[in-house]
Amino acid sequence: MMNDIKEILIDKDQLAERVRELGEEISADYAGKEILMIGVLRGAVIFMADLARAISVPVALDFMAVSSYGASTSSSGVVRILKDLDEELDGRHVLIVEDIIDSGLTLNYLVENLKSRRPASVKLCTLLNKPSRRKAPVHVDYNGFTIPDYFVVGYGLDFAEKYRNLPFIGVLKPEAYGG
Ligand code: PRP
Ligand code: MN
Ligand code: MG
Repeated sequence: MMNDIKEILIDKDQLAERVRELGEEISADYAGKEILMIGVLRGAVIFMADLARAISVPVALDFMAVSSYGASTSSSGVVRILKDLDEELDGRHVLIVEDIIDSGLTLNYLVENLKSRRPASVKLCTLLNKPSRRKAPVHVDYNGFTIPDYFVVGYGLDFAEKYRNLPFIGVLKPEAYGG
């Protein structure tokens, strides 16, 4: 697995430090409130697990699965709900958690979809942001790292379901994705 990595872009310590900072910021912003954290399967789960434990206000967890990529490296632009929430959103403070915002097509759709369910608030926290790739506008409330247009994997991010368990964000060698 490590043979497929060209360089480590964000190492384990940098990830832990940024997650700690985001947790503090979010805890302060939501003081006296409860958060319903919505993770976007599957990429968000590793970040979500660490972020939830860095937050000191009560956090409930729910998940959605949407599809826009499949095994391809670029977005098809089609967003489908594969698994919907178990929780009701009315009156809840929703915090969407993502691993990466790329074209923005997934989150542009998801934010509007969740807002239509009458939550008290909807905010978005992403670990990584690639603004240079944006096709649809997305308002990011909490951003871990803004990164260049590299093909990154690890800490939840995959290529064809591989590399999610790497403990860092790494740049994939072009040979590893047939580039
Ligand atoms: C990736 C990533 C985001 C989305 C971002 O998910 O985890 O959810 O694409 O792309 P966008 O901004 O261009 O919409 P993917 O569809 O690969 O599924 P996964 O989370 O299961 O890996
Ligand atoms: Mn995803
Ligand atoms: Mg993926």
